[in-house]
Amino acid sequence: MNKEVKSLTTITPDDWHLHLRESPIIEQVLPFSSENFGKAIIMPNLEPPLIKLSQAKNYQKKIIDLLSPKNTFKPLMTLFLSEETTIKDIYDGANSGIIKAIKFYPKGVTTNSTGGIRDLSKVYKLLEKLPDLDLPLLIHGETTNTEVDIYDREAYFLDETVRKLRDEIPELKIVLEHITTKNSVDYILENNSKIAATITAHHLILNRNHLFNGGLRPHYYCRPVAKREHHRIAILKAATSGNANFFLGTDSAPHFDDNKESSCGCAGIFSAPNALSCIVQIFEENSCLQNLEKFISTNGSKFYNLPLNSTFTKFTKFQEPVNHPKKINIGNKFITVFDPDFPLYWKNQVIHNPFKETN
Ligand code: DOR
Ligand code: ZN
Repeated sequence: MNKEVKSLTTITPDDWHLHLRESPIIEQVLPFSSENFGKAIIMPNLEPPLIKLSQAKNYQKKIIDLLSPKNTFKPLMTLFLSEETTIKDIYDGANSGIIKAIKFYPKGVTTNSTGGIRDLSKVYKLLEKLPDLDLPLLIHGETTNTEVDIYDREAYFLDETVRKLRDEIPELKIVLEHITTKNSVDYILENNSKIAATITAHHLILNRNHLFNGGLRPHYYCRPVAKREHHRIAILKAATSGNANFFLGTDSAPHFDDNKESSCGCAGIFSAPNALSCIVQIFEENSCLQNLEKFISTNGSKFYNLPLNSTFTKFTKFQEPVNHPKKINIGNKFITVFDPDFPLYWKNQVIHNPFKETN
C-alpha cells in the first residue's frame, strides 16, 4: 500500500495551451485533460486549421460530445490567424462568446502552420480590433528565418516582431506561448499587465542537453526547443514566483511514435497525463507551494477575464513513486507520454466539495 505523506487543495487548474487533435487521437487523449483541468485553451492548428467560427464551433461540439455526462470541462476555442482571416471572422468569433483568443503562428514555424502569417504588419488592421473585443493574441514566438540559430529564434522574434507589434498596438493583450528563454521572462517583467506568458511543465524540466543525453531523444523535441540551463532557471523562477503574468499552458501535443521516431521527427511533447504531477513536485522542491494555485489555477483566468473554476483539486503526495502511463495505445500505434526522468510522487483528483473527502 502506497502511504499518503501530505496533501493540499487548490481551485481546479486550467490548461491555457492544449492540442487535442482529431480522431482517432482526440478520443484517447481528451480524458487526461478533461478529468484534471477545469478549462483549456484549445489550439486551432488542425488540418485544415480553424480559421472560421463554424469550424471552431464544430470542433468544440466534437470535444463536448466526447466528455462523460458529468464532466464540466470547458474547451475554450481559438481561431487560427491566416492571411485570409477577415474582420468579419474576428467579430463573428468574439460575438459568439465561443472564441476566447486568436492564435498567431508564423508561417511554417511548427506542426500544421503552413497557413500562418508571413508578415504580421499586413494584419495590423485586424489586430487593432482585438482590444475592444477583449480577445488576446496568442503568439508562437519564434522567427522562421532559418539563418537565425534555432536556439536564438525566440529572442530574435521578440525584437523582430513583438516589440514592433506592441509599439503599434500598445493596448493589445498578448500571451507569449510556451516561453523558453530568460529574454521572454525579462520582457514580460518589464512590461505592463497586458502581456503574459504560458509556461509548460516540460520547459521547467528540460534544457537543451536533455535532447542529446546518451543519444537523440525525439520525445523531448518540441518547438520552441528547450534552451540552455540558465534559460530554464529563469522560466522556473518566473513560474514559481506567483507573478500574475505567468500561468500554465502544458502545450501537450500528441504525435504517434512513428512520426516522432523518424528521420524528420515531429515537434511536440505529450504531457497531459502527468504535467500536473510534475508541476506540483517542482513547486515543492523549490519551496514555492504557496504560489502553486496562482500558476495553475488563478492567474490565467484573471488574465483572460474568465471566472475561476468552482471545483477544487486535491493533490496528494505518496511515500513511493506513483504510476502514470508511459505510452498510450491507439489501434496498432502508440503515443509516448512525457518522461521527466525522475520519479513522481504526487497525484491529483478533482473534488466538488473540499470539505468532503470524496464525492
Ligand atoms: O512542439 C510543438 N508542437 N510546438 C508547437 O508549436 C506545435 C505543437 C504541435 O501541434 O505538435
Ligand atoms: Zn502548441
